Amino acid sequence: MDFKNEANVFILDHPLIQHKITRLRDETTGTAEFRKVAGEIAMLMGYEALRDLETELVEVKTPIEKTMAPVISGRKQAVVPILRAGLGMTEGILNLLPTAKVGHIGLYRDPETHKPHSYYCKLPDPISERIIIVTDPMLATGGSAVDAINFIKEKGGVRIKFMCIIAAPEGLAHLHDVHPDVQIYVGCLDRQLNERAYICPGLGDAGDRIFGTK
Ligand code: PRP
Ligand code: URA
Repeated sequence: MDFKNEANVFILDHPLIQHKITRLRDETTGTAEFRKVAGEIAMLMGYEALRDLETELVEVKTPIEKTMAPVISGRKQAVVPILRAGLGMTEGILNLLPTAKVGHIGLYRDPETHKPHSYYCKLPDPISERIIIVTDPMLATGGSAVDAINFIKEKGGVRIKFMCIIAAPEGLAHLHDVHPDVQIYVGCLDRQLNERAYICPGLGDAGDRIFGTK
């Protein structure tokens, strides 16, 4: 699939994002730097992913004169990290949208089957009117993202954006197939999955690298 021309798929090729992703890939990057850089990438990606936020004009008085100038308006937002690793992107988005509510979806991949198992779901209620930004640094088979978005839609979520730092072509195609209405923002599209369903070249296990576990 040629993702570059696919509606609702946005592969971000900004040099600042690419530079920071290289820091994450490096196996010598430690937990503190990894966490900091993942947050910075999320903020840079958010800048792009939120360019369709609605604005309205309000009157403001500058030291020179009165004018009409834009402020964010319209729908409220919700940030929904997929636990655990999605938490590493939450702060970066909240820097841009400090009043957004935060939901959490807990999923872990079975190491043998690579299928996601759900253990937690708590979303802002009601969610139907909100712009929902789902975060997870890794889109591998796409199973976790598909299930997370299924939960959100079951609870009434409609306007959904998914942000990941690295995607495999297999996972991106799967997510886009099942949820073509979801806008997907990808920091970097990698080559493929390996036999353990890890992204190559990827960055390893994002949750372990963000939280320093093994
Ligand atoms: C990782 C990652 C995604 C998922 C991606 O989480 O953060 O949620 O795997 O894989 P998929 O696209 O094949 O579903 P993991 O299950 O390792 O849990 P963790 O974040 O708690 O470490
Ligand atoms: N989850 C990760 O954290 N990394 C991968 O490469 C695949 C799934």
